[in-house]
Amino acid sequence: MYGSESSTVPEDLERTAFRRAEKKYKLYYEDTYKSSKKKRKPKPVDLSEVLDFNSILESYYQNVELPHGVVPLRCGFDRPVFSLENRPGFYFIPGALSVKEQCQWIKESLTSFPQPPNRTNHNAFYGPINDLFIAANERKALVADWGSNSECDPSVSNGGVHGWKFFEEHEVSSKGSTCKSVSALVLLRKLRWSTLGLQFDWSKRNYDVSLPHKKIPDTLCQLAKRLATPAMPLGEEFQPEGAIVNYFGPGDMLGGHLDDMEADWSKPIVSMSLGCKAIFLLGGKHREDPPIAMFLRSGDVVLMAGEARECFHGVPRIFTDGENDEIVTLERQFSHEDDFSALEYIRSSRININIRQVY
Ligand code: OGA
Ligand code: MN
Repeated sequence: MYGSESSTVPEDLERTAFRRAEKKYKLYYEDTYKSSKKKRKPKPVDLSEVLDFNSILESYYQNVELPHGVVPLRCGFDRPVFSLENRPGFYFIPGALSVKEQCQWIKESLTSFPQPPNRTNHNAFYGPINDLFIAANERKALVADWGSNSECDPSVSNGGVHGWKFFEEHEVSSKGSTCKSVSALVLLRKLRWSTLGLQFDWSKRNYDVSLPHKKIPDTLCQLAKRLATPAMPLGEEFQPEGAIVNYFGPGDMLGGHLDDMEADWSKPIVSMSLGCKAIFLLGGKHREDPPIAMFLRSGDVVLMAGEARECFHGVPRIFTDGENDEIVTLERQFSHEDDFSALEYIRSSRININIRQVY
């Protein structure tokens, strides 16, 4: 599902309205800056049609007319909740998470959520990795363990690797050229997803109940239950059973898709945005339906239930250029907490935690 700014898309895929919108908002760089990666400048993009729930919230508080089709929901929730007239089952709660909560869940997403038995995109190649964030901060490198062979065996498909272990970077350089290694910082930057609770198998696009797993942390469950209430029938409680954590770096996108592997679509997906601002595309039931574009900022929560579960959606881009990322309050909180490694990470990243009732 992931792509980057360098991916090419066959022309026929660009024929749908969803794909055209993805292309419109995707990150492109100015050609003149191509040669020097650091100075690359994002091409300006027309954002005039992107729904902005920050200003919608302002209008709502000031009793000013809301954009056409945006409807405040009367549901007794402790913050304003908005729905869209032509997308029943979709709910937007701007700034649902406090800055403190945002920091907390960013830290958990970097430290505890990727811990085994939770799986990440790195599992397929490296097997389970423990304490990646700590290793990245300590500038360690993950090194192939060749077992008794002590070096690479080209006759075996994975080179005969028994497993991978973290070492200090200076130890790695002394191991010589036969040593296969990758820095923990690079692995952290290449972390794309981790799964909590029931483990989602991305290769089969299904939940694999045979995989070992631990329950979603109780504090996250309680939070998700509370946030889900505007989309739940009166008196029913949301049961969080699985969660997917998506990590986005500059140029990363999440292509248009449906989340259709859960049994009961009347139950919402509770989706929390953390870190840099993003554009979210909410399409219709067909890729040909023109999607609605909206900004997702750190602390925003989106619920998708009922009919909205059948709507294509995706994230064509995030903003990491310091001007548009809109994470100033978050940066202040991290500095206040002296957490400079998480701060450095989130300055150019977005994290999305989406929590699901699977059965
Ligand atoms: C997903 C998803 C949206 C987001 O993971 O299925 O739709 O805001 N994420 O990142
Ligand atoms: Mn989704």
